[in-house]
Amino acid sequence: MANIPSGNRDSFTSKFGVIAAAAGSAVGLGNIWRFPLVTTQNGGGAFLLLYFGFIILIGIPVIMSEFSIGRRAQANALGAFKKLAPKTPWFLVGSLGIVTAFAILAFYSTVAGWTLEYLLEALTGRVIHIDDTAQNFAEFSADPVRPVVWQLLVMALTGGIVFAGIQKGIEKFTKILMPLLVILIGLVVIRSVTLPGAGEGVKYLFIPDWSAVNFKTVLMALGQAAFSLSIGMGTLITYGSYIQKENHLLNTASTVAFTDTLIAILASLMVVPAIFAFSAGNIEQMSPGPGLVFEVLPNVFRAMPGGVIFAAVFFFLLFVAALTSTISVLEVVVAYLKEELNMSRGKATLIASVSITVLGVLATLSFGPLAHIKLFGMTIFDILNFSSANIMLTFGALFIVIFVGWKLGKSNFLDEISNKGELQSRLFKVVFFIIRYIAPVAIGIIAVAALFIQGIT
Ligand code: PFF
Repeated sequence: MANIPSGNRDSFTSKFGVIAAAAGSAVGLGNIWRFPLVTTQNGGGAFLLLYFGFIILIGIPVIMSEFSIGRRAQANALGAFKKLAPKTPWFLVGSLGIVTAFAILAFYSTVAGWTLEYLLEALTGRVIHIDDTAQNFAEFSADPVRPVVWQLLVMALTGGIVFAGIQKGIEKFTKILMPLLVILIGLVVIRSVTLPGAGEGVKYLFIPDWSAVNFKTVLMALGQAAFSLSIGMGTLITYGSYIQKENHLLNTASTVAFTDTLIAILASLMVVPAIFAFSAGNIEQMSPGPGLVFEVLPNVFRAMPGGVIFAAVFFFLLFVAALTSTISVLEVVVAYLKEELNMSRGKATLIASVSITVLGVLATLSFGPLAHIKLFGMTIFDILNFSSANIMLTFGALFIVIFVGWKLGKSNFLDEISNKGELQSRLFKVVFFIIRYIAPVAIGIIAVAALFIQGIT
């Protein structure tokens, strides 16, 4: 039953609504586009094991930290730190989150736009007639107009949903789109793993090769876990502030982490076996880049009966997954503008969407007219992608656990996650112990070692 929250702050109306929105944020291009990409670039199975370790050891405790900060403060990502630690520099962690939101949404909307191009190509049937899929992707992504138009559409749709508000926008859409997404993914996985040659890909995915692991791999696994769970930038602080007082935060956090991980595995089972089927098992030859999914999968669709339909389903699901994430990133900035600068939701949405789109267009054009602009050998897109996930989110997550473990403190944290003592679980103290001691040390060592010992690129 829907509960009407006390006070006049917006809130999600049901348990399922919270999970749909938070899992909607978590499940996205990170799972389907980025995960297979970084997994294949960083040693397959060994990367996967590290990744799972980080989800449990760091992911769930950081989700709990963000939820508890947001729900306790009843405020946006920056305002929450101001409320819980007034007159201290902790608000800077919130500011880092707002900056990260800009960086992520800028490059994320580029890729989300690509999914629309490919959806159109699937609907017109063209997708299964592309001979050289790599060249096709290179030409399309370098075009100065088409990808930008798709990106504008993505940002307009994202802005539209966020403008409609928490209940009528975000909750309503994610409650419909998330179950649909799960069904569609199941369909495509069944098709992919039954392809001839798929077995080798499945082996590659699950058999660890520890020789491929170094500090950078570990950083990439941690960064991917943070990116995929939407932690480290205040998205879950913002969503946490819309969660009702009776919600069991640990159950919600675990369900979100479990769903996200399951979908990352399923997504890899859609993509990696297909890479093997079309590269005769030689993964190096694929030189995986941002176009991986767009270059590999059209080959699969061409080879399978009913390929056009599967292509349309796949690119639609990719788009849906992206949209339920883009809204969560935009909401971080909108909630900040609305509450800290006293703007209306409409004005905040407009200002946030337009300014992020400007940066986003630069990211999109860095595949074409702006490809020559490089820093440390990386294009604008690469810089936004690498620095946001691996650096900003990692340091964001580090500061967030230090905040909860050492500033908010044990009694406040336990009071918040036990709903003022109503819920009991031994795990609550375990989670706090991880937040206070284990997570900061683990994140700190990895982040610093990767940056200074190994070098970042
Ligand atoms: N978690 C999303 C994905 O895996 O695609 C991306 C993302 C959304 C990252 C929201 C960060 C965020 F705050």
